[in-house]
Amino acid sequence: MTVDEQNRLINIVAPALRALLAQVDKLSLVRFSESASDPPSSLAVEIPAKASAEQVVERLTGAIEAAPEPVQVVGVKNVGLFSVVEDYMQAGRVGAMVALVSGAAQGIGLGIAQDLAEQGAYVVLADIDEHGARSEAEQLCKIHGPGRAKGLAIDVTDSESVGKAIDQTVRAYGGLDILISNAGVLKAQSVKTQPTEDFDLVTAVNYKGYFLCVQKAAPILAVQHLAKPDYISDIIQINSKSGLVGSNCNSAYAGSKFGGIGLTQSFALELVSDGIKVNSICPGNFFDGPLWSDPQNGLFAQYLRAGKVPGAKTVQDVRKAYEAKVPMGRGCDVSDIINAVYYLIEQKYETGQAIAVTGGQIMLR
Ligand SMILES: NC(=O)c1ccc[n+]([C@@H]2O[C@H](COP(=O)([O-])OP(=O)(O)OC[C@H]3O[C@@H](n4cnc5c(N)ncnc54)[C@H](O)[C@@H]3O)[C@@H](O)[C@H]2O)c1
Repeated sequence: MTVDEQNRLINIVAPALRALLAQVDKLSLVRFSESASDPPSSLAVEIPAKASAEQVVERLTGAIEAAPEPVQVVGVKNVGLFSVVEDYMQAGRVGAMVALVSGAAQGIGLGIAQDLAEQGAYVVLADIDEHGARSEAEQLCKIHGPGRAKGLAIDVTDSESVGKAIDQTVRAYGGLDILISNAGVLKAQSVKTQPTEDFDLVTAVNYKGYFLCVQKAAPILAVQHLAKPDYISDIIQINSKSGLVGSNCNSAYAGSKFGGIGLTQSFALELVSDGIKVNSICPGNFFDGPLWSDPQNGLFAQYLRAGKVPGAKTVQDVRKAYEAKVPMGRGCDVSDIINAVYYLIEQKYETGQAIAVTGGQIMLR
């Protein structure tokens, strides 16, 4: 069996076992190891290298039903060992679910990852800033216990890198229940002067990056549904109010976010048959985060330097001008976004939506 064939089978067997060996409505946690020999207690199964997901699920279902005792460990010949983790159940709104958050080393992504862990999830923090993702994950393990978070490298613009991040998630936890596609960049400039490299970067991270994350994660979520047809999962994109209305001198960003809504609506239609809900959250401006408040490169500092707010003399003046645009008089904070994340996960009858979380700044028709 080639390495690619082995990887493909791991990404089918592990999520299938999460679902087939689930004792409650939540899926099990399954760890993969490349053990040379199976322990005597394990269920030994042989699966052809090119077997389809349907064939794998059928083969595993038959073997588990025929096993004389409850199955805890499955050895698949030439692939490895899959073990059910017994004490994985956690309390909380997303207790025992597995979540991957892209762009989780700082800002909104980090806030979401921290809250999901607080609410009982096993969280993968994936970021191009690998060091940041790993050290934040270590912090979460200190607070919530070993193994509750994992930090890893991802470049969402690169298909291979996204594939590797999903592979590592499956090997660590067996699959995935919640994908939060959050990584994003902003380069604001007039269309008359913006370098095309800036346009390409914004489009690659915000638009193509969302597509690639869904492309690699959806098959894992789909296998879980195939093995347990009443199971449903979530893909949530952190979009922006700039995905709903144009943004002056910020066309690359707004265009990439508008495109994201098109992807969300199309993914929702396509993936509904795999039990996957796909929705976007469109937050207003998060003034307290580094994107706006970084003293050197934050947007407040940039807008002050660019004279974008007439009469503004300090960063505080710029901030006040932006707060005044919001009917509720303040920026969006991470807890506002997190409330929308839980709404979408708990609401089982919503897909293809864009939820505006903007303090009244954007009102949909
Ligand atoms: N900050 C706001 O006001 C605001 C408002 C609405 C929506 N959003 C959206 O929320 C999301 C998060 O924004 P934020 O303010 O936390 O930004 P941020 O700049 O603080 O964090 C973004 C993270 O994404 C990572 N990242 C960048 N490029 C990447 C790549 N190619 N692959 C993987 N990771 C990459 C960065 O390393 C960083 O950790 C973005 O999608 C943004 O568009 C932000």
